[in-house]
Amino acid sequence: MRLNSLQLVNYRNYDNLHLEFNKKVNLLVGRNGQGKTNIVESIYMLAFGKSFRTSKDKEIIKFNSENLYVGGNFSTQHTNGLIEVAIGKNKKGIKVNKIHIQKIHELLGNINVVIFSPEDLRLVKEGPKERRLFIDKEISQIMPKYYNYLTSYNKILFQRNQLLKSKYIDKALLDVYDESLVQYGSYIYILRRDFIKKIAIISKNMHDKLTDGIEELSITYKNQININDEDTVASVYNKFLDKLSSNREHDMETRTTKYGLHKDDLNIFINDLDVRLYGSQGQQRTASISLKLSEIELINNEVGEYPILILDDVFSELDETRQKLLVDNLSVVQMFITTAEVSHKNIFDKANTTIFNIKQGSVISIENGGI
Ligand SMILES: Nc1ncnc2c1ncn2[C@@H]1O[C@H](COP(=O)(O)OP(=O)(O)OP(=O)(O)O)[C@@H](O)[C@H]1O
Ligand SMILES: [Mg+2]
Repeated sequence: MRLNSLQLVNYRNYDNLHLEFNKKVNLLVGRNGQGKTNIVESIYMLAFGKSFRTSKDKEIIKFNSENLYVGGNFSTQHTNGLIEVAIGKNKKGIKVNKIHIQKIHELLGNINVVIFSPEDLRLVKEGPKERRLFIDKEISQIMPKYYNYLTSYNKILFQRNQLLKSKYIDKALLDVYDESLVQYGSYIYILRRDFIKKIAIISKNMHDKLTDGIEELSITYKNQININDEDTVASVYNKFLDKLSSNREHDMETRTTKYGLHKDDLNIFINDLDVRLYGSQGQQRTASISLKLSEIELINNEVGEYPILILDDVFSELDETRQKLLVDNLSVVQMFITTAEVSHKNIFDKANTTIFNIKQGSVISIENGGI
């Protein structure tokens, strides 16, 4: 899968920009604040319909302008397509091949994008919430309906917690909430279990490569219902419902829901030690890279296409050995790499690289390898 071209109109500090991309490496080079991340943000927008930096769409519209437009031509092994996003002060429209979509899940999966930013290097060190977000985003991308299940689950969880906080707790209504929470929850538990099993294998291999076989990475699903490989949607339904029922008194006292998917996490071990507790900074960062990059192989396994990889500002955070390992191991994917350091140009094979030099919302020059 690859992005062939990009058109931006009134997108952050760009007036009107048209770029044709290399099918391998695209290096966006420029000093701080010039507009490198703005470009990759717009690519992300084509994949997910929103920014990864803000939830307020109107912040993205160029100052003193009314509307923005992002359009991108992409190719997969079997087809070509066009995705367009238009945002006005109070409206937003997304088109896939010139047809307006109604729901965001109709967009997801057309272009698969994996984005790696400096925060991802802290994925292992951060709290469980960040890892849950990581899991949710990845599964949604492979399976758009997961996003719908999760949205429903969260809505019911919110209502259940509201009810628990009210003066009079209607137990019949609580029963109804429990039923639907468990109904959506059991699907999500199974999907998360299967997803984590897959990325555990892939990230173990990746980690093996990145550490020259010295470290063995093991990732497992941390959840409160002891879900196992034999569990089915039906058995998880029962387990989860039992857990909620037996804890109801406690939930009513504390006025919140103690058990459920919203407490899930990953156990991350290197050579049998919990890397969150005992790992060095370097080990935590490498484990984060292995975990995060496992998405690439996973998406390829699931959809039969490698995703587009965006590395925003991560390059300067890695030592040269890791930079090389990363680039060498990922030569099959189309990459967009932002960097402020011109020296990084030398890491890449010139024949497969296009360099875009960026200054104040303009691409001032393009150095082309063979496209
Ligand atoms: N809505 C907007 N309209 C106009 N300009 C904007 C808007 N939003 C952000 N900018 C400008 O975009 C620039 C930041 O761009 P961007 O984040 O892409 O920089 P960068 O090249 O990635 O920098 P760094 O190397 O520091 O990450 C800033 O100069 C900012 O003022
Ligand atoms: Mg940036």
